[in-house]
Amino acid sequence: MLIWLKAFHVIFVVTWFAGLFYLPRLFVYHASAKDAVSLERFVVMERRLYGITTIGGALAILFGVSMIVVQPQYLSAGWLRAKLVLVVLLIGYQHMCRALMRAFREGRNTRSDRWYRWFNEAPALLLIAIVILAVVKPSFG
Ligand code: HEM
Repeated sequence: MLIWLKAFHVIFVVTWFAGLFYLPRLFVYHASAKDAVSLERFVVMERRLYGITTIGGALAILFGVSMIVVQPQYLSAGWLRAKLVLVVLLIGYQHMCRALMRAFREGRNTRSDRWYRWFNEAPALLLIAIVILAVVKPSFG
């Protein structure tokens, strides 16, 4: 049971990250686009990708939480608690993407493509930290 939940958890984590990596990449190109056709195309691409990203994230969290429901002892592990703190940051990052996407859609973007290039690095750092916590399971204290 648990290994099946874990398998689907990882499948949807991958789906979620595909979006978290590519959405800010679209912002990089969107920020330097000038013509109306490109601007409109990016708005549509971003909206669709955001939808798929949200579904991946929701299912990854659903399967993660269901493992804790099946085996509540997980909650006493330090690595899992630390991981959950980083997951909250990840959800915050996705919300920020949504706000930035809306600003683009309404023609209010003020940030440069260079800024988005840096913004694009954050999910990679969170991915490294979360996977190390989930796989190595370091013990704290
Ligand atoms: C609310 C969100 C989440 C919850 C409740 C959760 C919970 C869990 C639990 C209970 C396990 C089983 C650990 C084990 O038995 O080895 C697990 C495994 C795993 N999680 Fe999450 N997780 C969440 C989000 C994430 C995210 C965002 C990532 C990636 C960035 C992630 C990556 C992994 C990986 C790679 C494993 C497999 C570890 C292994 O096989 O040793 N999880 N998660």
